[in-house]
Amino acid sequence: MAKDTKAGIRDSFGSKFGFIAATAGSAVGLGNIWRFPYITGENGGGAFLLIYLLFVVVIGLPVMISELAIGRSTQRNPFGAFRVLKPRSKWFLVGIMGIAAAFMINAFYSVVAGWTLEYLVKSIANQFQGKTPAEISALFDGFQQNNWRPLFWTVLFIVISAGVVLSGVEKGIEKYTKILMPLLLIIILVLCIRSLTLPGSFEGVRFLFHPDFSKIGPSAILIALGQAFFSLSIGMGTLITYGSYMKRSDNLGSSAASVVFSDTLIAVLAGIAIFPAVFSFGISPDSGPNLVFLTLPNIFAQMGGGYFFSLLFFFLLAIAALTSTISILEVVVAYFSEELKMSRKKATLLASAGIAVLGILCSLSLYKMPQISIGKNSLFSLLEYTSSTILLPLGGFFIVLFVAWLFGGTKLKAELSSEGKYRVRYLGVYRFIIRFLAPLAIAAVFLNGLGILKF
Ligand code: PHE
Repeated sequence: MAKDTKAGIRDSFGSKFGFIAATAGSAVGLGNIWRFPYITGENGGGAFLLIYLLFVVVIGLPVMISELAIGRSTQRNPFGAFRVLKPRSKWFLVGIMGIAAAFMINAFYSVVAGWTLEYLVKSIANQFQGKTPAEISALFDGFQQNNWRPLFWTVLFIVISAGVVLSGVEKGIEKYTKILMPLLLIIILVLCIRSLTLPGSFEGVRFLFHPDFSKIGPSAILIALGQAFFSLSIGMGTLITYGSYMKRSDNLGSSAASVVFSDTLIAVLAGIAIFPAVFSFGISPDSGPNLVFLTLPNIFAQMGGGYFFSLLFFFLLAIAALTSTISILEVVVAYFSEELKMSRKKATLLASAGIAVLGILCSLSLYKMPQISIGKNSLFSLLEYTSSTILLPLGGFFIVLFVAWLFGGTKLKAELSSEGKYRVRYLGVYRFIIRFLAPLAIAAVFLNGLGILKF
């Protein structure tokens, strides 16, 4: 495994491309292909997309740069990083918050990742060809009504993630993502073409790209912010951990920009693949978390080579989910092993067992046992909302404030320029954003979205 000369003790990614691939592997996942379409569908389409894109560029990218800078300069996990930078302060709580978010996300995420495994098997068994949209939606319901299948796949997925994390950083992550993510991009492009050529597809294009701001309220704006954080894997320290594995000589800013670009491209393309088909097949855009699983099989059923494409697609989606969950799991494992002095093996097993219990409850709470809920919300949506819409933006808020006011200007410049190796032309704008714009914007969106303040 490559060693970073300055870092000494830690594993690091073998190359700049390796780092980008692994970080993009963390960012690209169910967030882009499952969550982005379903919440865009629930929040009215075009206007939501526009707000989301704005947040990605103006807030997401600066938060990502800040997290990577913290990670690379301290060579620690999120919890330890704050302790090194500000000993005897309360800042380590931000790290703890990230670890809590990591637990929650991993639980509900593994449930949906389990669905992709079921759909991979359905693809292999050729269950979509020749089916009507009604039959395809019955397929999903039948799966959810089964006592064991959804739970089995969730647990299997968690076991696979644990296996990859146990095998180590570079070997486990870098090797696969470099080849498989570009392949996923190609399949999504093929799906876009098929979807756009379906009868009545234009309605979907309109839905996604024609902004109608009357459909947007304060809570939708907060959900868009949370989705930007969720999709970019920021706000909980994943990228502090990944930054700690990044080489000192890599250009931090340009690497972050490449990751943000790839992640956003895939989300938008997933939208273009899904919404035309949604309207063409008469599916409701606000169907919720099952939207993608109702829509895509119809496209596969209606395309040449659909059998082959569906197989490859669900395989790659499962891999994309895997490269994301291992990055989430890594946060918890790094914390357990570095701060609580556990072996990596013990840390991984312990974390995965906890996630499996929570994941099973989450899965049951969606369809089988809706009584597992708090108020009107299932445990699944509760964890989803709390982690992505509350904890991630809150984490991002503290991370930018920390880097802006406590990290130290000279140190920040040295980190971003790799000790003067690169010119940091964006430094002025970036500083302005992390000092003022991002914290104020996050706070405003947050308080407004939760109804605490009205703007
Ligand atoms: N960004 C990942 C996705 O879009 C999910 C994730 C969230 C990963 C937070 C790490 C941290 O699928």
